[in-house]
Amino acid sequence: MAFNDLFLRAARLEQTEATPVWMMRQAGRYMSEYREIRANKTFLEMCYDPELAVEVTLQPVDLIGVDAAILFSDILVLFPGMGLDLDFQSGVGPVIHNPIRSKADAEALKFGDPYRDTPYVMESIKIARHELKDKVPLIGFSGAPFTLASYAIEGRGTREFINCKSFMWNEPEGWDILMTKFTKSIIDYMCAQIDSGVQAIQLFDSWVGFVSPIDYEKRILPYSKQVLDAVTAHAKGKGEDGKDVPVIHFANGATSMMDLVQQAGGNILGLDWRLDMKNAVKTIDPRFGLQGNIDPITLFASEETIKETVVDILEAVGTRPGHIFNLGHGIQKTTDPDKARFFIKTVQEESRRIRG
Ligand code: CP3
Repeated sequence: MAFNDLFLRAARLEQTEATPVWMMRQAGRYMSEYREIRANKTFLEMCYDPELAVEVTLQPVDLIGVDAAILFSDILVLFPGMGLDLDFQSGVGPVIHNPIRSKADAEALKFGDPYRDTPYVMESIKIARHELKDKVPLIGFSGAPFTLASYAIEGRGTREFINCKSFMWNEPEGWDILMTKFTKSIIDYMCAQIDSGVQAIQLFDSWVGFVSPIDYEKRILPYSKQVLDAVTAHAKGKGEDGKDVPVIHFANGATSMMDLVQQAGGNILGLDWRLDMKNAVKTIDPRFGLQGNIDPITLFASEETIKETVVDILEAVGTRPGHIFNLGHGIQKTTDPDKARFFIKTVQEESRRIRG
C-alpha cells in the first residue's frame, strides 16, 4: 500500500481531494482487540512497553481505517519523572498520591527530562514510524500546562476544580512555579517527540473549558503560548522534505474564548462539538487549520444521522483548506466499532464527493 499523506497535506493547509479523519482516543477500550491485550496488563504497563504500545497504536489504522495514527500513551506519563506518584485505578481513573497543595510542593517538583523519564515514548515513536511507513502519519501529543496542573493539584479528575482554582488564586507564586515547571517540561517533551519522528503533534488542553476567559487570559494563556511558540519554532523544517511539523492546539470547551485560543497559537485549532462549524469558518483566522468537530455521542445514532451530520460539517467547512475531521472529544468506550468504521468511511466518501 502507498503511504497515505492526506492528513499531512491538509495539516499544511494544502487543497486536498478529500478530508482526512482520525478520532481522539481512537486506540482504546471500545475495541475488543485492545481489551484483549489490556486483560493481561495494567494501562501503564502497556504505555511503558514499546512493542505493546505500537501494536495498539496500529489497531485503529488497520481495523477502523483512520487517516492518521496517534501514539498510544497518556498525557500523565510525564508525572513520575517529575516526582508525582501516578496510578490508574479502575473505576476512578488517574490518581496522584502526593498532589501539589502548597508553594513548597511546587518548589520540590522536578523538571521533566524526556530522555531520562520517558525513553519508552521515544522508542515507541521510532518503532511506530517504521511500522507505519507504508500506511499513515504518526501524531505525538502532550497535555497542556493547565490540564497537567489540574491533575497535579486535584490528585484526580474533577468537574469543579476547587483545589486547582484556589491554588491558582491564593498561591500566585506557587502557581507560577508549577506552571513554569510544566511549561518547560512540556516543551522539552514535545520537542523530543518531534526529534524522535512524530509527523504532527497535538497539545491537549482538555479541561481549560472549566475556567473563565478572565482567568484563562491572565493565568493560563501565557504558559500555553510559551509552549506553542517554542514547539512551532522547533517544528520548523523537521518534517519530510524539510517541511514543518504541524502543531495542533486542542482547547476543549473553550468555544466562548476562541479569540484567546488563537492568541495562544498552534497551526491547527482543535474544535469541540459545541462550536458551530459555520461560525468557526467565519470567525477563525484563515491561517489556522481546523480540526473537528462531530459530537462523539453521534456515533450512538443511526447511520443516517451520522451521515447527515458529517455532511453538515463538511458543507459548513466548504472549500476552506486545512480541515481535519475528528470527533469533538474522545471516543466513548461503549461505542460500537462498526459505527466508528462507518463514520470514518462516510467522511472519506462524502468529502471526496464534496471536495473532489
Ligand atoms: O487518542 C489516543 O488514542 C491516544 C492515546 C491517549 C490516551 N489518553 C489513552 C488512554 C491519549 C491522547 C490520551 C490523552 C489523555 N489522557 C487526556 C487528554 C485527552 C482528552 O480526552 O481530552 C486526558 C485527560 C488523559 C487522562 C486520562 N487517562 C483519563 C481521564 C483516563 C481515563 C480513565 C478511565 O478509566 O476512564 C486515562 C486512561 C486512558 N488513556 C485510557 C486510554 C486508552 C484507558 C485506560 C484503560 O485501558 O483502562
